[in-house]
Amino acid sequence: MTLDPYFEPASGGDNAFTVEAPKIKFGAGSLPEVGDDAKALGMTRVALFTDSTVVKLQPLETAKKSLEAAGIDAVVYDETEVEPTDRSFKAATAFAKEGDFDGFVSVGGGSVMDTAKAANLYSTYPDDFLAYVNAPIGGAKPVPGPLKPHIACPTTFGTAAECTGIAIFDLLEMEAKTGIANARLRPNLGILDPTSLVTLPRPIVAANGFDVFSHSIESLTARPFSQREAPENSNARPLNQGANPYSDLACLESIRLVGPNLIAAVNDADNSATLEPLMFASMLAGIGFGNAGCHLPHAMSYAVAGLVRGYNAPGWPSNHPMVPHGISVIVNAPAVFRFTGPACPERHMKAAEAMGADISGVALEEAGAVLADRVIDMMRETDMPNGLSGVGYEESDLEALTDKAFPQKRLLVNSPQEPDRDQLKELFRDSLRYW
Ligand SMILES: [Fe+2]
Repeated sequence: MTLDPYFEPASGGDNAFTVEAPKIKFGAGSLPEVGDDAKALGMTRVALFTDSTVVKLQPLETAKKSLEAAGIDAVVYDETEVEPTDRSFKAATAFAKEGDFDGFVSVGGGSVMDTAKAANLYSTYPDDFLAYVNAPIGGAKPVPGPLKPHIACPTTFGTAAECTGIAIFDLLEMEAKTGIANARLRPNLGILDPTSLVTLPRPIVAANGFDVFSHSIESLTARPFSQREAPENSNARPLNQGANPYSDLACLESIRLVGPNLIAAVNDADNSATLEPLMFASMLAGIGFGNAGCHLPHAMSYAVAGLVRGYNAPGWPSNHPMVPHGISVIVNAPAVFRFTGPACPERHMKAAEAMGADISGVALEEAGAVLADRVIDMMRETDMPNGLSGVGYEESDLEALTDKAFPQKRLLVNSPQEPDRDQLKELFRDSLRYW
């Protein structure tokens, strides 16, 4: 007897899954409560992290006023970088050490929240920079003890950085994206206030909405936890534990919210009614992939982002070629659904329906294709690039893309159908253009 036939016990497979639940406050108008929340966590002098854009916006002012009204000293640090590096993490750490703070509040996107996590870690437990960085690049040293309290207040949606104990950055000398991952890095509280999203540029809303959708569909269609090899001991269960009944709940609801709201959020003159469902969908997706894990679209996205040549995304405040994360993910997704559809067709069909596809009379064998077609329609309606060719790649890049994505084993094995190298290359080929 299992909760869903998808989780049928397998010989040698795991028989349990764990549930990680971040502490979140969600609601329009909840950001002004940050001062009381900080006080309740014992903060008296706060490092208020933001960036050079958000520092001029309403949410930062709201947070600062609220902290001061609660009798808390708040010192603003707005020098975080949009894509943080070891250099910007070190600069933020120096600020945190000098300021003698007893708490952190971050107001901004994933980069700001991640920089606050790193500054909290290195100022509380100073060590060689690479000590805490993920292996094999760093020593993956466990965080020695609790960090200072941190409240994360996102002004965007999609990354779910407020839910995770991960801080991502570029290590400049190796030109590699890596991170620090430890549960102690997870903020004590995330305050999700949809009114903080009103100034988000539309192209960013589109890309982040597709990232949310992809977190959800990848977690929903991930290999079932019961087919992952049982861990040697209870502490060795991986973060990417596979689809499970808990993440299923969050993911399907997240897709059901993205489906009817994403196009309106990008194209309607007044999109304010769509921001609350999208931010909630993002939170649900964060719970979903935090407990199940992503697979192929994300594995392929790191190659797409890493090998970029001349692409500059319209609407992004970047002065160097870059494929924004949500775009680097969604350009691969339709090709992936056609490939993974047969492995768990019911799940692809449910997702297609939740995204708004007409599934009446559609045979189960067509589930992956129907989902792919629906996503392609939505990409066109929201001005997303036309697959890999839309972000500057061509046939001659397929080998290099495959070489860079194939080592992402942690993500590849979480797919319901693990591709071999040739199949992965074909997935990149199918992603070249969709219309
Ligand atoms: Fe993502």
